[in-house]
Amino acid sequence: MISAHLTVDPYFTVGPINRRLFGAFVEHLGRCVYDGIYEPGHPTADDQGYREDVMALVRELGVTTIRYPGGNFVSGYRWEDGIGPREQRPRRLDLAWHSTETNEVGLDEFAAWSRKVGSELMYAVNLGTRGVQDALDVLEYANIRSGTRLSDLRVANGTPRPHDIRMWCLGNEMDGAWQLGHGSAQEYASLAAKTARAMRQIDPGLELVVCGSSSAQMATFGSWERTVLEATYDEVDYISCHAYYEPKDGDHPSFLASAVNMDRFIESVAATADHVKAERRSTKTMHIAFDEWNVWYQSRYGVEKLTGIDDWPVAPRLLEHTYSVMDAVVVGNLLISLIRHADRVTAASLAQLVNVIAPIMTEPGGPAWRQTTFYPFAFTARLARGEALELKLDSPTYDSARHGEVAVIDAVATHDADGGGTAVFLVNRDETADAEIEIDVRMLGEVGVREAWTLSDKDPHAANTLEQQDRARPVANPTARRDGGSVTISLPPVSWTALTLG
Ligand code: AHR
Repeated sequence: MISAHLTVDPYFTVGPINRRLFGAFVEHLGRCVYDGIYEPGHPTADDQGYREDVMALVRELGVTTIRYPGGNFVSGYRWEDGIGPREQRPRRLDLAWHSTETNEVGLDEFAAWSRKVGSELMYAVNLGTRGVQDALDVLEYANIRSGTRLSDLRVANGTPRPHDIRMWCLGNEMDGAWQLGHGSAQEYASLAAKTARAMRQIDPGLELVVCGSSSAQMATFGSWERTVLEATYDEVDYISCHAYYEPKDGDHPSFLASAVNMDRFIESVAATADHVKAERRSTKTMHIAFDEWNVWYQSRYGVEKLTGIDDWPVAPRLLEHTYSVMDAVVVGNLLISLIRHADRVTAASLAQLVNVIAPIMTEPGGPAWRQTTFYPFAFTARLARGEALELKLDSPTYDSARHGEVAVIDAVATHDADGGGTAVFLVNRDETADAEIEIDVRMLGEVGVREAWTLSDKDPHAANTLEQQDRARPVANPTARRDGGSVTISLPPVSWTALTLG
C-alpha cells in the first residue's frame, strides 16, 4: 500500500483557470470532419448534415474552444476553396495526409457547427504555402461586418453576421521538416511578425498564437522559441506547444509519468519567453497555448500516411487509435499538468476531437461512442472551476527511465470562491499497488465529500470499442470520507480520480 499526503489551501493560488484550457482540435484529416462531425444521410444528421449524436457527445465533453482547420493540413490549404455553393467547390490534393479534400465543409460550415456545440472557433492561417495577404483575406471574410468584397461575399454565401473569431494561429508546426513551407526559425519569425502586424491593422484586439516547437524533442527546441519570440514578442499573445505521448518499448512507468515531461516543457517555454521579455525590458508576459496534446501511438503505427500517385482517398481511416484505461490515466494526468500551470497556459487543445486520435469515435451510418480518454477530459472540464491551487504534495517516488525520479501520486486542486467548491484531481501511477491518500482540508472549513469518481480497470489495457462501447468508465469511489481535518481516499493502481468537496 502506498501512502501520500496533500494539503489544500485555497489561499495559495496559481491563477485563474481559463476555460480555454478545455479546448480541442478538428483537422481536415482522415474521418475527423467527413464521417465524423459531418455525415449527411446519417440517421441523426440535421438539415445541414451534422451528426446530432456527435454534437451531443461534444457538448458532454465540455469542449470550450476548437482549433481548426489544421494541423499539417492548413499549411497547404486554400481557405476560399471551402466557401460558396458546394457544387462549385474544387476537389484538391491534401499533401499533408495524401488524401483528397472535397471542401464540402469550410469556414462557414465549421463556424456554424461550432456555434451549435457551444464552442469558440480558433482559426489557423496558412503560413506554409501562403502568407500575409491570405491571412488578411480570410480575416476580412470572417470578421468584417459587410461593405467590402470579401465580407459581402460571406453575407452572400448565407452568413450575414461576422464570425468574430478572436484567436488566430499563425501557421502550424513551422519548425517541422514535414511541414509544407517549413524553413528556418528566422524565416518563420519574420513571416509571422509581418502577418501579425498586418492582421492587427484590421483588428488590434485579435489574440494571436505564434508557432513554438512541435515537441520538446525537436533539435531546435529552445532556440526556435527564442528566435521566434525575439521577432514577434510585441505582436503576439501566445506561443504554442505541441506534445504527444506514448509508451516506448513497453516502458509503462515512464509513460505513466508523461506529465512530468509536459511540466518541464511548459516551464522551459515560459523561461525562454521570460528571457526574451527581460531582453526587451517588456512588461508583457507571454501566454502559452498548448494547442496540440494527447496520447498518440506514433511509433507503434507510424505517422500513417498513404502514398501512391493514383491513391488520394476521401476521408480514409487514419490515426484511429483505440485508447486504453492506462492512456486515459495519462490524459487525466496531462490535464493536471495544464491546470497546475494555469498562470501561463491559458489555452489548450486536445488533439483531436472525433475519430482521429480522438475521445469520440463514430461509424458511418452507425453509432458514436466515448473512448476511455473522453472521461477524464469531460470530468475535469466540468469540475475544475475558479483558481488552480498550489498543492503541498508528499508522495513516494520511483525511478523512470525517461524522466528520472518521479512521484507515484500526482495531483492538482482547484477552488471556486463563488460557491463552486473545491476539486482535487489525482492519479496513481503505480502499476500494482493501491494508494491511500490523506488530504488536509482544514483550511477549507467544514467541507464534506460531494463527488468522488475513479477510472481504473483490473486490465489497464481495457478499452471501449464499437463492439463494447461501455467497457470502461469512471465509477463512484466509495472510499472517500471526511475524517476530522482530513479527507481520505483510496486509489487503485493505474487510476485517475476526481474528488469534489463542498
Ligand atoms: O494531430 C495530428 C498532427 O500532429 C497535426 O496535423 C500536426 O500539427 C501534428 O504533427
